[in-house]
Amino acid sequence: MANDIVNFPVNRLNCILDMLIEEMRNLTNENRDQSIEWSINHVYSCSQLAKLLAVKRGLDPEIAAIAGAIHDLAIIKTGKFENHGPAGDAYIRNLIHKYNADFGNKFGLIENEEIEIIVLASVHHSEKTIFTDNGYIELIKDVDSLDRFLHGKDTYAHYEERSTKALRDLNLNFSDFK
Ligand SMILES: [Fe+2]
Repeated sequence: MANDIVNFPVNRLNCILDMLIEEMRNLTNENRDQSIEWSINHVYSCSQLAKLLAVKRGLDPEIAAIAGAIHDLAIIKTGKFENHGPAGDAYIRNLIHKYNADFGNKFGLIENEEIEIIVLASVHHSEKTIFTDNGYIELIKDVDSLDRFLHGKDTYAHYEERSTKALRDLNLNFSDFK
């Protein structure tokens, strides 16, 4: 009915987003391979796109969105792009463990098996030319690619292939954006 309230519970994600903005708010662009402004934009838009694509693909949208938000944490932490996927492993675990310790009681724990999903998808997200049977790994690769396109970045090769795949699942294609 029109007057019913609908609510999508993403309290854990929202708290992780707050923690990420806390990580980023005082950083400068000095010695960074990517601007902190880009990192901020990319955190938020990847988390939103991950929700949409996860629902379309039958995956957990909050866990997908946490992975979307956190997958480039190594770039945020170090400023370095090289090897940032694998380098994110420890940073991501630390941040989620801190979340569980400080906010788990209030918003709900991120369980160990959920942590593994998030870490795995993040660690492998740069391997865009490799296709796996892990839905979350594929989702973060696709979301990362589509987000670049939607922010107006040149889209080619594996980015184009993965953006196409993501758009197709959302019943869209590149020609819709002309
Ligand atoms: Fe990345």
